[in-house]
Amino acid sequence: MNLEELNQIKEAALAEANGAADAAALEEVRIKYLSRKGLLTDVMAQLKDVPNEEKPLFGKGANELKQELTALIKERQESLSDGPKKGGAFDPTLPGQWPALGSEHPISKVTARITEIFQTLGFTVADGPDVETVWNNFDALNTPADHPSRDEQDTFYLNSGELLRCHTSPVQVRYMESHTPPIRIIAPGRCYRRDTPDATHSANFHQVEGLFVAEDVSMADLKGTLAYFAKQFLGEDVKIRFRPHFFPFTEPSFEVDFFFEVGGKARWIEILGAGMVDPEVFKKVGYDPEKVTGFAFGMGIERLAMIMYGIKDIRNLYENDVRFLSQF
Ligand code: PHE
Repeated sequence: MNLEELNQIKEAALAEANGAADAAALEEVRIKYLSRKGLLTDVMAQLKDVPNEEKPLFGKGANELKQELTALIKERQESLSDGPKKGGAFDPTLPGQWPALGSEHPISKVTARITEIFQTLGFTVADGPDVETVWNNFDALNTPADHPSRDEQDTFYLNSGELLRCHTSPVQVRYMESHTPPIRIIAPGRCYRRDTPDATHSANFHQVEGLFVAEDVSMADLKGTLAYFAKQFLGEDVKIRFRPHFFPFTEPSFEVDFFFEVGGKARWIEILGAGMVDPEVFKKVGYDPEKVTGFAFGMGIERLAMIMYGIKDIRNLYENDVRFLSQF
């Protein structure tokens, strides 16, 4: 025997293993080549008659053939035993294998619903970056340097001098600086505050901002818009109330509560901050406060999602546990 003959055996063995149509045929190939009385045992026995100079290569080739063939047969055994031919025939009536599909995150769902409602009123969606300038996040919103929310304890500042926005209100500034009234936008997005995480606090969360600027926009428009939103979002029976509050960028300012049923019992729940755009803000973005008026509002999305779905701990929303997230 010589190297060339060994190569012929190799080609034949691999071709037969590859060509075996079922488990029984494959087993025959295995017995023919790999069993104790098989061809490869013969080959090894003939090593002593191989010309001396070919011996090292021949020995190596024979070993490789054994390994390669063993691996190939094992692989084919596996694919033949758990493929569609299992049990002898393909059964087209068996259910298929479904890939695990994800589901929409509750935050995305609530955001989409809020957006949809305001779009029916002619609001369009605006966007701004998470990394903001101090001007857009604070100064232009009439929030002076000595305001407590500018404290390092409350806001994430970056080395660049920028910050992670602590609300979606800077989108108001961006939009007004690049557009002329009338303006009707909502701006959903992520916000950041220094907060110790617990069941109701998270260092990052989501808001939807709203802004309406035109000639003669009044408190009545704000109330009507929010009442319409509340009814669309929670049903005809919901009531809304305005409580006086303070925001640097609106005057007057309010916290707005909705009265609706949660867990079988109707009660007042604080839903958003709102107010009439402060004339100082109009001046900062180059609008004439004698010519335009407007209202703005901002609501927390996590809070709404937690109320709507009865979620007790805000951290559940960020843990990415599919078992939790796929319930909604
Ligand atoms: N930006 C305010 C907050 O984060 C909410 C708000 C937006 C209030 C617009 C009034 C007008 O609390």
